Amino acid sequence: MSFIRCLFILVLFSSGAVAEEKKWNQKMKALESSLGDLLFDISSDARFDDKKNYKSIEVNAIRFAKLAHSVTGKSANSPDRDRTLELISRDFSSEADNAVQSLKAGHRAYARVILNSMTNYCIACHTRTNTGPSFAALKVDSRFEKLPPSSRGNYLVAIREFDRALIEFQKIAASESAASAAVFDYERALRSGLSVAVRVKRDPDLALKLIDFVGSNAKVPYYLKAQVGEWRKSILEWKSEKPATPVSGEALFAEATRLVARARETQKFPADRSADILYLRASGILHELLGNLPTGETGSKALYLAGLSYDVLSDYGIKDFSEFYYRSCIRNTPHTDIAKECYRRYEESVYFGYTGSGGTYIPSDVRARLNELELLSTASPDLKSKSPELH
Ligand code: HEC
Repeated sequence: MSFIRCLFILVLFSSGAVAEEKKWNQKMKALESSLGDLLFDISSDARFDDKKNYKSIEVNAIRFAKLAHSVTGKSANSPDRDRTLELISRDFSSEADNAVQSLKAGHRAYARVILNSMTNYCIACHTRTNTGPSFAALKVDSRFEKLPPSSRGNYLVAIREFDRALIEFQKIAASESAASAAVFDYERALRSGLSVAVRVKRDPDLALKLIDFVGSNAKVPYYLKAQVGEWRKSILEWKSEKPATPVSGEALFAEATRLVARARETQKFPADRSADILYLRASGILHELLGNLPTGETGSKALYLAGLSYDVLSDYGIKDFSEFYYRSCIRNTPHTDIAKECYRRYEESVYFGYTGSGGTYIPSDVRARLNELELLSTASPDLKSKSPELH
């Protein structure tokens, strides 16, 4: 009898655990279907501007924002422990709210721009690294063909159909009209494609294919061709490396350290983008490492390296990514050399961000946070224990 009761409890328990595990994926599935509705609404001027659709577009946006709020990197069933999830999900939900408020206030053109950028958040999370499922040749939403080319690749990454997404990005890279119409969008598609090839697929041949389409596109401006030429060199170097797959935390850390050092050697000045491929490779490995929540100084060093990478890869991920890593590094191991180093970079980045033609103006709340972090990075632990609430 008691054995049967035990079995019963065991079954109850394990089915509960499975239900918990499924939650994240269920939310993602719901986001997928909501995103399909949203993109369909905003992809056509006629549909978006037709008064008959106003209500349903608003209802879809509200549903989408609600789902966005349900995704928080803090939840116990997050697929990994990379705190980047927390950061992205916070911005994701507040921007989705922003879109809803703009729609309600009648700022429809602005709301449309924000809604159109929603896939950036899906992409920022999904292309961090090579973990998580990827789907192939599933039946895609029948409205897919109606989307403009630039949205197709993004949509496919958002639903984790990475192979098909790469094909869309290759088509854009090869398209002369795409390169001459809006070079900003063209570059964005190229970056999304590289993020998939380098971080999700970790495949130099796929990255090479993509940039060779850019190299042979007659309408690509000179500066971008020159940049792509530098990336080509990095990819060829990558191809010549012995294919080692670092698995342990230590090996991942060693590889990320090597790649960031090589990247910094390659750059000719801090804003130089010629080492993007190296930084992308490094950041992919760092996200994998951060997913296992390394603690202590290794954790802080990994956060520091992520900060250095995103200082350069400012258009990957989301805004102020690097500052987030520096702050996390300081809080993770206060009063250490690495915390000091993280603070130095953090301060530099904040000053830079608040400096304009009229000089540097730092708002008081930002100044207060700087002071707090400076204290955490330099003051001795004794001092810290005297000031009760530092967070
Ligand atoms: C905060 C980060 C984050 C955001 C934002 C995000 N995702 Fe995800 N999503 C993930 C992660 C991580 C996984 C992989 C989970 C795993 O390892 O099983 C995933 C998995 C998925 C899956 C696969 C689910 C399954 O069946 O296994 C789909 C579909 C998906 N996401 C769609 C979306 C869409 C669409 C958006 C944007 C509208 C989005 N996601 C935004 C992190 C995110």
